[in-house]
Amino acid sequence: MPADVLLERAGPLGDALDRRLVAVVDGVAGWDGAALVDTAVEGSGFAWLARTFGLSSFDVDVLAVALAPELDARYERAFALLQEDATRGRPTVDAVLTLLCANADERSACRARFGADGPLRRHELIELVADPREAASPDRARYVVVAPRIVDALIGDRGGDERLAAAARVRAADQLTGLTERITPRAVWADLVLPEDTTAMLREICAAVAGRERVLGRWGFAEKLSRGTGIAALFSGPPGTGKTMAAEVVAGELGLGLYRIDLARVVDKYIGETEKNLKRVFAAAESADAVLLFDEADVIVGKRSEVRDAHDRYANLEIGYLLQAMESYRGLAILGTNLRHHLDEAFVRRLAFAVHFPFPDEPSRRLIWAQIWPGRAPLSDDVDVVLLAQRYPLGGGNIKNCALAAAYLAGDGPIRMRHVLWAVRREYQKMGKQLSEAEFQP
Ligand SMILES: Nc1ncnc2c1ncn2[C@@H]1O[C@H](COP(=O)(O)OP(=O)(O)OP(=O)(O)O)[C@@H](O)[C@H]1O
Ligand SMILES: [Mg+2]
Repeated sequence: MPADVLLERAGPLGDALDRRLVAVVDGVAGWDGAALVDTAVEGSGFAWLARTFGLSSFDVDVLAVALAPELDARYERAFALLQEDATRGRPTVDAVLTLLCANADERSACRARFGADGPLRRHELIELVADPREAASPDRARYVVVAPRIVDALIGDRGGDERLAAAARVRAADQLTGLTERITPRAVWADLVLPEDTTAMLREICAAVAGRERVLGRWGFAEKLSRGTGIAALFSGPPGTGKTMAAEVVAGELGLGLYRIDLARVVDKYIGETEKNLKRVFAAAESADAVLLFDEADVIVGKRSEVRDAHDRYANLEIGYLLQAMESYRGLAILGTNLRHHLDEAFVRRLAFAVHFPFPDEPSRRLIWAQIWPGRAPLSDDVDVVLLAQRYPLGGGNIKNCALAAAYLAGDGPIRMRHVLWAVRREYQKMGKQLSEAEFQP
């Protein structure tokens, strides 16, 4: 990629960044405190981004720093030096803060710009990507990676109008809220309690998405296959067994956003218009580069022995559309289902992955009970997770509800076993089940 294109668009970024890197790596004085990128330069890609997304001068500098290794391998070496690790050719949040801030106060103030609500992440201009060796790392240790479409907009050879159009499409993705819900992936591998083979399958999905370009493009599979090049997965299992959570983990691992689409609502609300709406969802997702989770998929892919009503008739048409759209989607599409109906087997066969989420057995429940509590929650020693797991066959979703309810019951004090037991009792009531008094004795 031609570095001079960026330099031409951004002004003398190269020099400013070089000087800053040398100053920081060598620890020499001479901090000028000036912004790296002059956003006042008319017609520069950075100025355009700042205007379109309401970026501060700091935000723009973040983009410039994160973009540098994409342009010139020299910067990979510089970042490796700066971070004292030869394998880190991209800057982490901490490294960017070191480069752009004069002192610790400034660094802690600027850290907020990397939050999920800051413009850089809200508009998906950057992603914070964990090093694969440390998937559970905090944000500050994650790499700052400029979204591919922004790299493309800044240094690709498309014109400004097209760049604006691309940005507008991303805005459209934000506006799809009527049909889709944006989930910020928070859950990580360590939070997920699943059988080993299930976790292995989830990792295989990640590897497939990450390796898509290699297999389909470089190895030529795309030319051999007329269809079925999209990566679609089925997540099936009872309510509250971790399907949504797993979608979060996968999206987080891939450094992508996650959109959840409730198919039951799409079908119900827009009878006969499902296809049109799905089209919008896919189009918006395509430019936002996101993982799509279609929940309640059984309303569409459930097996129908006979066509009962208009919904069913439309749904039959919609299966065809959904399949085709998933197969040509560039990203990962996941179908979530509770298996309330039997699934249409022909449909499932065409998906690349089918992952089943079982109801947790006793050892799994023990693990879920043990790690559901946030580190800062004051948990009393008398909370007996072995007993809870053994006595109450509850799924992960119920366990989460109980933990939260127990925390509210605890008031200011530590969360005790009696609070948890009370919460369990309420959870059973909610499910319409009665347990005897004895079953709630500590
Ligand atoms: N396998 C699991 N490991 C750890 N925690 C879990 C697991 N399953 C569920 N949980 C807890 O329950 C919560 C709800 O789970 P989640 O929303 O992922 O379930 P789901 O399978 O998507 O349910 P639904 O079918 O109702 O959509 C999670 O946020 C987590 O706290
Ligand atoms: Mg779910």
